[in-house]
Amino acid sequence: VNTVRLIQQKRDGGRHTDDELAALIRGYVAGEIPDYQLSAWAMAVYFRGMDVDETAGLTRAMLESGEQLKWPAGTTLRADKHSTGGVGDKISLVLAPLLAGLGFTVPMISGRGLGATGGTLDKLESIPGFRTDLALADVVRIAREAGCVMTGQTSQLVPADKKLYALRDVTGTVPSIPLITASILSKKVAEGLDGLVLDVKCGSGAFMKDVRGARALAESLSSVGSRLGVKVRARLSDMSQPLGRMVGNLVEVLESLEVLAGGGPADVRQLTLTLAADVCLLLGAAGSHHEGLSKSAACLDSGEALRRFERMVGAQGGRLDKLAAAAPMSEIVAPRSGYVARMETESIGQAVIALGGGRRVMSDVIDHRVGLEMLCRLGDPVRAGQPVARMFALDRGGKEARALILEALVIADEPAEVPPLLLE
Ligand code: URA
Repeated sequence: VNTVRLIQQKRDGGRHTDDELAALIRGYVAGEIPDYQLSAWAMAVYFRGMDVDETAGLTRAMLESGEQLKWPAGTTLRADKHSTGGVGDKISLVLAPLLAGLGFTVPMISGRGLGATGGTLDKLESIPGFRTDLALADVVRIAREAGCVMTGQTSQLVPADKKLYALRDVTGTVPSIPLITASILSKKVAEGLDGLVLDVKCGSGAFMKDVRGARALAESLSSVGSRLGVKVRARLSDMSQPLGRMVGNLVEVLESLEVLAGGGPADVRQLTLTLAADVCLLLGAAGSHHEGLSKSAACLDSGEALRRFERMVGAQGGRLDKLAAAAPMSEIVAPRSGYVARMETESIGQAVIALGGGRRVMSDVIDHRVGLEMLCRLGDPVRAGQPVARMFALDRGGKEARALILEALVIADEPAEVPPLLLE
């Protein structure tokens, strides 16, 4: 493969064939194409973009860099969900066991925190003993036994993404819709899925701050997903305030357990049920979205989703009976009276990182017990001195986190319009 020619072609706005993309990815994974050439190519893609055919070709090339999950005959339909990441977004922790309870097989390969957004694996590791480094054979076995499994990417599964993502992370080429699409979908298609729902976040705590960008990403993911043989339904949801009350790791697991027990914050329950209903409709388990919603609510309220969660945790070595307590709590109060008009949600995520609940460099070790509980939501009236958040802190970052939260909460004289949770 003439890598220089491919870089020039993309730099000048040309398009690649499937064979060219396959050769590029094969050469990169084999170590024949150096990082500096792939960086130049990724930057050319960042500026010039790729059409749907090229993006599908790249996704396929990445998919073929590793193994794919093989499902024995008799395995129920495979479903999964991907979220583009948000603050307080613990939906996967509830949705995976809920889908298992509805009869699907859910082999969820999850990620760690990225930027200000938390990661499912980091949250699950608040459970003592919980293993997130399963081999592919164990992923299949546990998914079949418990109905769901949640684990990390291994070098067996899409090694091309592991290598390319690490390169993009340090070359300013993460926010490219075709590169994001290929990265996400290569991993999802490798799971051997029948259906995938996408929760594309939009707002001050999301990677896409406006509806136009979020919509473009959703459209790219759906059209490329369909070309690779996975039924996809994408939804835009609001991330202009944290999802639920809790932001952190252990505290988000505790809140997820409340939702699994039929309680918890209304927004977490609503979004989880909506995405479950999307899967039911997509894979023919319900005739209408409404029917999907009531089946999902019944499953959640029956305790079946909670039992599935407990089975999965047990199968992955976790001990829910040994959960620690959250770190010591202190309150943050409103500096003035008014209405909560806006939240800089990304700063709320940064506050958790300051407390040690997320990473600034890859080698940072997470304190799972730290986090926040938000006591107000957009549109709420507040009085000066009223508690607006609780902070669970150990020995680091308390002052910085407090300042970040006070900055993040914009209190105005007039009530502002609150975006709906479900956008499109
Ligand atoms: N998540 C991924 O897995 N890949 C991206 O490129 C962005 C978010």
